[in-house]
Amino acid sequence: MINKTVPQSIRKLLEEHKQGHLLTFWHSINPLQKDDLLAQIQQLDFTQINNWLEKLVINIPSIDLPVNLAPPPFYPPSPVNNQQKNKYVQAQKLGTELISTGKVAALVVAGGQGSRLGFDGPKGDLPISPVKGKTLFQLFAETITAASERFGTICPWYIMTSPLNYQQTIDIFRSHNYYGLEKENVFIFQQGTLPNFSFDGKILLADKSHIACSPDGHGGILKALIRSGALENIKKHGIEYLSYFQVDNPLVTIFDPLFIGLHALDAAQMSSKAVAKKGPEEKVGVFCLLDGKLTVIEYSDLPPEKAQQRKDNGSLVFELGNIAVHIISTCFIERLSDRKLSLPIHRAVKKIPHIDEKGNQIEPDKPNGIKLESFIFDALPMASKSIILQTTRKEQFSPVKNAAGTDSIDTAKQMLTDRAACWLESAGIAVPRKPDGSPDCTIEIAPAFALEKDDIKAKLSRIPKINPNDKLYLA
Ligand code: UTP
Repeated sequence: MINKTVPQSIRKLLEEHKQGHLLTFWHSINPLQKDDLLAQIQQLDFTQINNWLEKLVINIPSIDLPVNLAPPPFYPPSPVNNQQKNKYVQAQKLGTELISTGKVAALVVAGGQGSRLGFDGPKGDLPISPVKGKTLFQLFAETITAASERFGTICPWYIMTSPLNYQQTIDIFRSHNYYGLEKENVFIFQQGTLPNFSFDGKILLADKSHIACSPDGHGGILKALIRSGALENIKKHGIEYLSYFQVDNPLVTIFDPLFIGLHALDAAQMSSKAVAKKGPEEKVGVFCLLDGKLTVIEYSDLPPEKAQQRKDNGSLVFELGNIAVHIISTCFIERLSDRKLSLPIHRAVKKIPHIDEKGNQIEPDKPNGIKLESFIFDALPMASKSIILQTTRKEQFSPVKNAAGTDSIDTAKQMLTDRAACWLESAGIAVPRKPDGSPDCTIEIAPAFALEKDDIKAKLSRIPKINPNDKLYLA
């Protein structure tokens, strides 16, 4: 029974939309919790919810396999002819100038729930560096500090969190004194959330007074930048380009003059880095031209015959895997917000903890409901111009998604050592290797020591002889 203190209008609204169960525990919650629950209900937009229920929750949308697909043009990791060589030189120079004059900021999305990893706390707090166990946040902060020194500027850092990990993230940064960065150059903001649904379209309750919600996807960043005031702050600082990356990629090159320069030279609005897919089955989205527009097609939506199609040289026709590294022009975000363009919402079938109608806590061991989210790459077709720069996986991409196995903490640590070993060898340092070719040692290079391979040559006198099984930290 609904307590009479529930405003009539709310009760009617919920019953009309078959969500009356949200008040099941009204009698057993305290006045503060009642206010809280009412506020959450008042924020629900039932026009939108009914639309989602019809198109994404109760009914499973039919996915039309894309037909008019073509591989997109892209810049290779190194120039292939003289004309391109000149362009890369010009881009490198322009990118350096843009960073040095404070036109570029770092933007990380760190609002995900990291459910596959199962780490207790924001993913950015995960220890990842192979010798010192520095966390992802610390590694990025040190990279930003080193880049600011290199380019003689201050590179601000914008960090998107969600209401589920905002406070924890703030506490982590405070307790580490912002990892040596100036507090005013670190802007931590929150994305929105969307309610979670059971398969039959009921909004789930996380507890007696809270609706079960999850962050609205990395695509939520467009709205979050505006709502949080981050975009105003970005404009106030005269920042024209945002270097976007994900919190779970410890290999990312945050300030890449070539990438930024190519984006600016081509007057692009949103650009991407890509790596060659490991094979047709690799579960990454691929860049395609769909009816002439650059689009990321999820691996599950790419027709198998297209996924397997090969060029004469044996490489995949649709080979460019999305690694979620972008340059986004500030003016593009403004344009999208002016036109109130919103990104499409996708459904994800997930395990969602909640309480049942009797108030019992349910921790599902198999997927039991639907989460909704939007993806940043869905903004690509809205850009008037977009470029892709192909890069090498072992240099720039090692996502930490799982606790073990592929794309895990162990693979990322190994790739950090592997990359460090290659950098040292390219400067003529001998690195002991096992019979299978992997380094027979663990190496960590601090961003202050080298941001890229070419920095090593100037530091040769500081590098000791490396013996098998060594744990070497270069700072
Ligand atoms: P993933 O899609 O890999 O999600 O996010 P996740 O939350 O890290 O992990 P799972 O799927 O629950 O296991 C890719 C990147 O996008 C960010 C994540 O923090 C990560 O950097 N992200 C994701 C957000 O910032 N907000 C979101 O709502 C979702």
